[in-house]
Amino acid sequence: MIKKCLYPAAGYGTRFLPATKAMPKEMLPILTKPLIQYGVEEAVAAGIKTMAVITGRGKRAIEDHFDISYELEHQIKGGSKENLLNEIRSLITQCTFSYTRQVEMKGLGHAILTGETLIGNEAFAVLLADDLCTSQNDSVLKQMIEVYEKYQCSVVAIEEVPPDQTDKYGIISGNLVDSTTDTYRVTDMVEKPDPKDAPTNMAIIGRYILTPDIFNILRKTKPGKGGEIQITDALLEQAKEGKVIAYKFKGKRFDCGSIDGFVEATNYFYKKGI
Ligand code: G1P
Repeated sequence: MIKKCLYPAAGYGTRFLPATKAMPKEMLPILTKPLIQYGVEEAVAAGIKTMAVITGRGKRAIEDHFDISYELEHQIKGGSKENLLNEIRSLITQCTFSYTRQVEMKGLGHAILTGETLIGNEAFAVLLADDLCTSQNDSVLKQMIEVYEKYQCSVVAIEEVPPDQTDKYGIISGNLVDSTTDTYRVTDMVEKPDPKDAPTNMAIIGRYILTPDIFNILRKTKPGKGGEIQITDALLEQAKEGKVIAYKFKGKRFDCGSIDGFVEATNYFYKKGI
């Protein structure tokens, strides 16, 4: 069972300045819902109720969002707009949210290690809210949990990206272990390789199931690409022992960390009527 989901949410979101000057990038809305709420809904759809958020300075709006706003509730009570809060109210009732701050920005691996106190000694999910995923049936995290239950090791979600975009992602190579479910046993992984050096075009997207030994590995992981502690490098240590599965998820991902992806997601959800 995966019971907890970690949300690294300490990054600055510089690509969206000035919008993200005083507002967390995770609070940017696709229509009326902030990105992080889509992420929490995906986790809930996978049966997860315990949310652990890695925040930083200037991120308080995230905590306020997952809390009751008495004044607002009082104002709109009984009116036509009251139902607009139904979804978020339901999340607040179902889930618990804990927060810890990443004091220094030393990379995604470092952010995940910061979450150790909230996670403890159990396997957990990691969700990067700026990768917004949608699927027809099971949520992407739910699909990944099924894979985890079968292989009992770390799982990364992957998709094929245009070969000239490998330098935006962690890239894996692996051996197909099950063609019906599109799962690979990872043999190598490299963070944001130049297209000319990339072993494949299979890119990790912002969904992981990690076994808790990752924390000890992260403690020993040296800064890698960009001088940051990379989760990709830590996962490579597990992969060397055959303990990482890559899973080509079913569904659609929007890179809402980029303007193009953000606009695409907005149009998609607008047309879908959500
Ligand atoms: C991070 C990871 C990268 C992964 C990506 C998915 O990069 O370091 O391996 O492919 O998330 O979105 P970031 O997008 O934070 O630069």
